[in-house]
Amino acid sequence: MQILFYSPDNKPEPWLAALAQALPEAGVQVWQQGMTAADVQPADYLVAWQPPAAMLAGQANLKALFNLGAGVDAILQLGDALPPQVSLVRLDDAGMAVQMAEYVSYAILRHFRRFDAFEQQAQQQQWRFLKPNDKADFSVGILGLGVLGSRIAEAVQHFGFPLRGWSRSRKDLPGIQCFAGDAELDDFLRGTRILVCILPLTAETAQILSRSRLEMLPRGAYLINVARGAHLAESDLLALIKSGHLTGAMLDVCRTEPLPQQHPFWQEPRITLTPHIAAMTLREESVRQIAGKIRALERGEPIAGIVDRSKGY
Ligand code: NAP
Ligand code: GLV
Repeated sequence: MQILFYSPDNKPEPWLAALAQALPEAGVQVWQQGMTAADVQPADYLVAWQPPAAMLAGQANLKALFNLGAGVDAILQLGDALPPQVSLVRLDDAGMAVQMAEYVSYAILRHFRRFDAFEQQAQQQQWRFLKPNDKADFSVGILGLGVLGSRIAEAVQHFGFPLRGWSRSRKDLPGIQCFAGDAELDDFLRGTRILVCILPLTAETAQILSRSRLEMLPRGAYLINVARGAHLAESDLLALIKSGHLTGAMLDVCRTEPLPQQHPFWQEPRITLTPHIAAMTLREESVRQIAGKIRALERGEPIAGIVDRSKGY
């Protein structure tokens, strides 16, 4: 069995060692920019993050491409370069869900408990009481109730926030007011004070956080985007913060990453930025999951996490 590996953000050696340990029978080759089909052995499996089309060229024996992340938007942009008979497999939690729950819980609590304001006061050596917020006024709405969104919901539920969620198919989750489909999006937004976006980026969800939608949130609402930068109309967010309709945002993702130095987000103190770290790919957990799925495929068994390309996630 032959595996071809590519991850532009990581040193390959520890990944090769982990793959060799989990699948000692496999040969593993690293793909590098500039390589052509003539430089690589025919692979059965690709294990990759944001692979360029050139990595797929000439790979006639390929059975599956294992994405080293949850979101497959970058891979689906390759279009026909990924033949339809090759299964595209996303990471299924693999340690990301709890990280996402931690990040979003922090963002919600920081805003709701006014820790951002206390941090500013402390910088000015001010010991001053601020009126606490009332939880009943702070309903949390989660766009996306999949692997990561449902884990966020579970974590947030423990704090007792009124909780609502939106997905494509209808869910029935205890303690969560569930909304489904485009027809129920407006109602979902109108009752959401803290909006969390954890949707996949697809043709339907791109630019979903636009001015018209964000204006449906009640005045004083707060946005947390941990999905993809292209979900958000960035100038609309700035305008709505400046007008006072939104109180601020915590963003882990931006349209252009790294966020350019001249981007106005850097100058807006009501926007808190992190560099796409909400839920990182963990090597050991990911390799364990991928190796287990490769073994299952080799035995002819079904696996979870195959992307439905018609839906885009
Ligand atoms: P997932 O399991 O595929 O869940 C996606 C959820 O979104 C599902 O509930 C789905 O509804 C819903 N959805 C999709 N399209 C929709 C539409 N048009 N209308 C309504 N609901 C829709 O994905 P996941 O594993 O939770 O990951 C979500 C995204 O998080 C990834 O695609 C990635 O972009 C992002 N992410 C970010 C980071 C980070 O560090 N910032 C890390 C990992 C992932 P159904 O349940 O009805 O299908
Ligand atoms: C990270 O953004 C992922 O999709 O896993």
